[in-house]
Amino acid sequence: MLLILPDILTNEDLTLARSLLASAPWEDGRSSAGSQARTVKNNLQLPHDCDAAQQITARVLNGLNRSPLFFSAALPLRVFTPRINRYGDDNNHYGNHVDNAIRLKATPEGHTEYVRTDVSCTIFLNEPDEYDGGELTVRDTYGSHSVKLRAGQAVLYPGTSLHEVTPVTRGERLACFFWVQSMVRSDEQRRLLFDLDMNLLKLRERHGECAETTALTGVYHNLLRQWAST
Ligand code: NI
Repeated sequence: MLLILPDILTNEDLTLARSLLASAPWEDGRSSAGSQARTVKNNLQLPHDCDAAQQITARVLNGLNRSPLFFSAALPLRVFTPRINRYGDDNNHYGNHVDNAIRLKATPEGHTEYVRTDVSCTIFLNEPDEYDGGELTVRDTYGSHSVKLRAGQAVLYPGTSLHEVTPVTRGERLACFFWVQSMVRSDEQRRLLFDLDMNLLKLRERHGECAETTALTGVYHNLLRQWAST
């Protein structure tokens, strides 16, 4: 499932991010790529522990926590520390690849934990008219989808998919990306749960709570109980 989440970041978050990124300590993005991805990756990233990255990722995590759509679609168990990247000039693309299935995450308590990359997320930090190219292109069984969103919007897509960022030929593309280990590993099962949840919301808006919405809410939770691992 490919899903667009509006307004993960506020205008205030975006203004802060832009001012921090103007003088941020960018480094070669290949440091966090697996061996196949490294051969096609050519962008810049922020060290995850620099001040700019920490301030921006805190805003991103707050934005995700405010989003019921993110929760319903991703059913997050663990969220990998968001990373910030820049495409432009001589470091302007990331060729076709699949992300590593497992990432090692440093926790705030000083431990490490594994995160399985079930769901990938990109949040756009600048506006699409500020650069040419830089589409996120995701290939799945339904074909190829190109995504280029307003600043503050996010896209969720299956971690299993082949994807690329096409070359930025004018300006710079600033984005944040991370992975989610979902309580529900299967993209198909997450999609069914998401569809059920969204349609239940609409039914309630139209008819209020009734015997059928109560019963279907039970179906949702009983499916989640069968499919979720915590
Ligand atoms: Ni990737």
